[in-house]
Formats: sequence, C-alpha cells, structure tokens
Amino acid sequence: MEVIIMKTAEKAEKLAARIIADALIEKPNLTLGLATGATMENLYHKLADMNKKGKLDFSLYKTFNLDEYVGLPAKDRNSYRYYMNYHLFDRINIDKRNTHLENGMAEDLDFECAEYERLMEEAGGVDLQLLGIGLSGHIGFNEPTSSFSSRTRVVNLTPVTMAQNGPYFDPKKGEKMPNRALTMGVGTVLDAKKLLMLVTGERKANIIAAALEGPMTSMISGSAIQLHPDCTVIVDEAAGAKLKLKEYYRSAFKNDPKWAKYQKI
Ligand code: GLP
Repeated sequence: MEVIIMKTAEKAEKLAARIIADALIEKPNLTLGLATGATMENLYHKLADMNKKGKLDFSLYKTFNLDEYVGLPAKDRNSYRYYMNYHLFDRINIDKRNTHLENGMAEDLDFECAEYERLMEEAGGVDLQLLGIGLSGHIGFNEPTSSFSSRTRVVNLTPVTMAQNGPYFDPKKGEKMPNRALTMGVGTVLDAKKLLMLVTGERKANIIAAALEGPMTSMISGSAIQLHPDCTVIVDEAAGAKLKLKEYYRSAFKNDPKWAKYQKI
C-alpha cells in the first residue's frame, strides 16, 4: 500500500483524476470501479473536463459502481444512479449501457446481487477500483462486521452511516433514507486489479488512520485494503493529520520514480 499526502483536497482530487486518466489512456477497454459520496464529486467533474477538452474518450469503457440504496428508483435524486448520471455519465461520452449500478428496485435482491457479480466476471473483472471511506469505516456499504470475503449482497446500514448520509434526504419533500443497500462485498473489492482510495477532510482523520495503520479488522472494512497488493491511498493534509508515518509517505512519494510525473500537481 502506498499513501500519498497532498496539501489540499483540490490537489488530492487532481492527482486522483490524473492517475485514473492515465490508467484509462493506457488501457482503452479498461473496466473502472466507481464510488459515490461528496468526496468524489470534484474528481468526477475533473474527468468530465478532460473529456470535454478531448483528452479522454470514454466511449469504450465499462463501469461498475460499488453500491446503491434499496428502494430508490434511478430518477430519485438520492439514488446513486442519479448521482452518477449527474456528476459524471451525463457529462461524458460514455455509452450508458456500459455503466452498471446494482438495481435497488429489483424484486429479487439476492438474484440482482448474484447477477451483478456475474456481469463483473463477464467483463473480465474490475481493473481499477476507486474507493472512499465512510465514517463507519465502510468501503462501499460494507458496514462493521462485514466479512473480508463477502460478495455483492444486501446490507443493513449502521446508525453512523444513517447519520452521515441522512442529511441528504429532505423529510419536507417526503424523502426518507433507506436503511438497506446493495453493495459489492469486501472480497469483491479486493478482487479488483488495482485500488485507488481518495479521502479528504478533517472528519476522516481518525477513521483513515485506523484503517491504514491499525490492525486489520472487520470492524473497519476499509482496513481490508491492507491485503491488496496494488493499492494507492491519496489523502489531503486534513484527512492525513493522524497518520503516524507521514514523513515516510512524503519521502516515498518524492523519491519513487514512478511518481515523478505527478510532482508538479
Ligand atoms: C457512502 C458510500 C461510500 C463512500 C462514503 C463516503 O456511504 N456508500 O462508498 O465512500 O459514502 O462519503 P463522503 O465522500 O460523502 O464522505
């Protein structure tokens, strides 16, 4: 695992966008795993800008998102399908038929999850999986006690997650946050060929330090990324504030030739 500390959230987002863009350019039929959450919004807008400027062509890529709420249709402004269309897919030249999210409206949710795994396998697996981390330590919606070998399935959301994402739902408009979701499992995430985690902001400082430098535990599903052989984590100074090995991460980023082209960000 490599940890990169950038001065600001803006620079962290820029670096993540550059790494993704370079991977897309290197493999024109790459399968990209995507994440949602406030952290990813600017990153997606940056990728969309590159597409607009003709630097990135999305026509051949397939995407698979980590998760979706149970019971929210695509047109609901709180569904992750809506989020992805709004922040990325409607801004780029991707074929929507190549974009996948679990269907939280499916009649048979277990079948939907099995089918999602099958589709990923058929696509040759995820090449690059983007990840955030929730305040409960979750990746995707893998709440505490999720098995490290879990696959795509229905999960119940914890009070911490209900409190984190609840404010996006407006009761005055009749909106209510679902307490269940479909999510790729921790095992599914670990099957991706590469992982790229982006974490910004002071409120994530404790959980990201525990996930990266604490013991691996199903109580923090984000800690499972320690098992992955090709994993890069980008944090801003605020999110990285509680990391113990800060100086080591800084010198590794500065000295490793593979990061040379990103020094100017
Ligand atoms: C949601 C998603 C996660 C995401 C997390 C962080 O709960 N299921 O995949 O990592 O939010 O969200 P934010 O970026 O808003 O902090």
